Amino acid sequence: MRAITRAVAFEPDGWTAERKAEVVALFDELADEWATRDIAGREAPVIDALDRGLAAAPVAERRFAIDIGAGNGIHSRFLAPHFAVLASVDISFEMLRNAPSEPAHLVQGDASRLPVADGSVGALVLANAFLFPTEVERVLAPDGVVIWVNSRGPGTPIHLLAAEVDDALPGDWEGVASVAGWGTWSVHWRTR
Ligand SMILES: C[S@@+](CC[C@H](N)C(=O)[O-])C[C@H]1O[C@@H](n2cnc3c(N)ncnc32)[C@H](O)[C@@H]1O
Repeated sequence: MRAITRAVAFEPDGWTAERKAEVVALFDELADEWATRDIAGREAPVIDALDRGLAAAPVAERRFAIDIGAGNGIHSRFLAPHFAVLASVDISFEMLRNAPSEPAHLVQGDASRLPVADGSVGALVLANAFLFPTEVERVLAPDGVVIWVNSRGPGTPIHLLAAEVDDALPGDWEGVASVAGWGTWSVHWRTR
């Protein structure tokens, strides 16, 4: 997962058919036990990113958010109060099968090719999820934010430092980053 995380973030052709098949097979298999990860305290970096991170970002109307690699919707209940419309996108059907039908709209899809219009998303949430920089650049509104969360900080298999997220994204970005509980988070927006 660490190698794939870096490949998709930093190599234009890093998301190969072979890696995709490997990732889908892995998470389909993990889907039934993913709920066991929903333990008290795991939500701390998500909640802190939404509270302090969004407050630090330039003011903007952010109606539509996508939880990329949402898995079984483990974070939906924390995200939904902040956005009028929330979509949970995941490539693993088995993960989504275990997600609640509310509050997020469930969409099976590949985050490297999101089924949304250019510039239409106010917030992209990536909690322990792969960063596809050119697709983030395409779908994010000009005043949109990227919310990056690693539930176990550097111990998270799908991990990047906040500065690496900035470096991977096309153009110039700024933001804030912090630690909460045993996790880390950062919120990124385009430099104006
Ligand atoms: C480590 S899990 C994180 C799940 C959840 N966000 C959490 O924090 O518990 C990564 C999730 O990303 C999904 N995923 C992997 N590659 C993806 C892609 N290209 N597009 C959409 N989802 C993807 C996996 O199926 C899996 O559910």
